[in-house]
Amino acid sequence: MSRNKLTAVRGVRDILPEEARNWRNVEELARDIFERFGYGEIRIPLFEKTELFSRGIGGTTDIVTKEMYTFEDKNGDSITLRPEATASICRAYVQNSLYAETGLSKLFCIGPMFRYERPQAGRYRQFHQINAEALGTDDPALDAEVILMLMEFLGEAGLKNLSFQLNNIGDSECRPKYSEALLAFLQKEVSSLDVEVTERIRRNPLRFLDSKDPAHSTIIASAPTIDTFWNDRCRRHFETLCNHLDRAGVCYEKNSALVRGLDYYCLTVFEVTSENLGAQDAVCGGGRYDGLIEDLGGPPTPAIGFAIGLERLLQLTETKDSSSEDQKPPIEIFIVALGKSAEQESFALASDLRKKGLRTDLAFGGGSMKSQMKRADRSGARYVLMVGEDEISKGVVSLRDMTKSRQDEISKEAIKTHLLSLLRP
Ligand code: HAM
Repeated sequence: MSRNKLTAVRGVRDILPEEARNWRNVEELARDIFERFGYGEIRIPLFEKTELFSRGIGGTTDIVTKEMYTFEDKNGDSITLRPEATASICRAYVQNSLYAETGLSKLFCIGPMFRYERPQAGRYRQFHQINAEALGTDDPALDAEVILMLMEFLGEAGLKNLSFQLNNIGDSECRPKYSEALLAFLQKEVSSLDVEVTERIRRNPLRFLDSKDPAHSTIIASAPTIDTFWNDRCRRHFETLCNHLDRAGVCYEKNSALVRGLDYYCLTVFEVTSENLGAQDAVCGGGRYDGLIEDLGGPPTPAIGFAIGLERLLQLTETKDSSSEDQKPPIEIFIVALGKSAEQESFALASDLRKKGLRTDLAFGGGSMKSQMKRADRSGARYVLMVGEDEISKGVVSLRDMTKSRQDEISKEAIKTHLLSLLRP
C-alpha cells in the first residue's frame, strides 16, 4: 500500500544547501557591517505571550487582527509565534534591564517570523528578517546613522536601483489632530468606498494611505498631508534628519503618504522598495517607536530600528551578476576505496583530513572504480585520493588532481601535509 507523500505547510519553504550558502553570506555581511556600527547580536525566543504583540504592535493592525499564529499551550496560556522582532527585543531590553548598562543599546537579530498571510511570490507564512534596533535616544542623528547603516548593508549586498521613502508621521501631540482631519476628509468620500474599507478608516484613518487599490489613489492624492500638521519638534526632527542624510549622500524620497502598518511608530518612518520585486515590493521597513518600551512596562526610552525581509533581499541578489568565485565548493577531497581494508583505511584517513580542516568526503557504499570516480566527479572535489590493495601494500595513496588529470603516489605519512600545502598554502 502506498503512503501519502507528506509536504510542508502552505506558505513555508525549505532552504536547500546551495541556497543556504547565499543566506549565510548575507547574514555574515549583516553581522560584519552592524558590528562595525556598534551593534551586538541578540537571540530572542520564537514565541512569546500573545499579549506582548497585541499590546506592542497594536489591536487594530492587520498583524494582530488577522495574521498571528496564536495557540493555547498545555497550561492554557495564550502563546504566539513571533510575527516580528521589535516587540520581543523591547521586552528583552526591559526584562534584562539593558537600559541600566549604557546610555544607548544597539541590538540586531536574524531569524524567522510567522504571519498567517495569503502566500504569494515574496510573501510567506514563515519568512526571515534581519532586524536592527537602537534604543536610548531621540537624537535625529541616530535616525540618520540607522538609515546609513541600512543603505550601506543593502549596497554591499549588491542591491541596486532601490527606492528609499521617508516620512515623519508626527508624535502623540500632532498625529491625533492629523488623524481627525484625515477622517473628516475621508468621511466625505465614504459613499465611494466599500464597507471593509470604511470600517478600516474608522479604526485608523491613516491606514487608508497604505491602500494599494488604484481606485483610491486620487482620493489619497487630494487628502490632507501630515507635514502641514507637524508641531515644531516633528518639523525640526525631520529637517535635521534630512540634513544628515544629505550630507552623508543618502538618496531618499519624501513621501507624506508613507504610514507603515504597525501602531508603535512615531516621527520617522521609512521603507525601501524595489521595482524588481513585483507586488510585494518592500525589502525593508522601519521607524521610530519612542513610546513602545514604556507601553511594555519599561522606563521611557525613545528608539528606532528596521527589519529587512531576507527572502526578498535574496531574490534581488539572485538577479545580480553573481560570479561563482566566492562560492567555495562543498568538498575539496574525495576518497575512493577499493576493497574492505581500503574502505576502513579511507574512513580513518577522511577523519584525519577533516581534523586538519579539509572538506573531505567518501564513496559510501563502495562499488566499482568507475562508479566511485563518477561520484568523485559530481562532488566537485579538486583532489581525489585512491586507496586499493596495491596502495595499502606499498604504504601509499594515489592522488589525482582533477583539473590536470594527473596522478601521483604519495606516502601515507606525507599525504596530510601534502594536501595542506596544496589546499592551504
Ligand atoms: P514590516 O514592514 O512588517 O516591519 O516587515 C519588514 C519587512 O519584512 C518587509 O519590508 C518585508 O521585506 C518583510 N516581510 C514582512 N512580511 C513578510 C512576509 N509575509 N513574507 C516575506 N517577507 C515579509 C516590521 O516587521 C517591523 N518590526 C520593522 C521595524 C523594526 N520597525 C522598527 N524596527
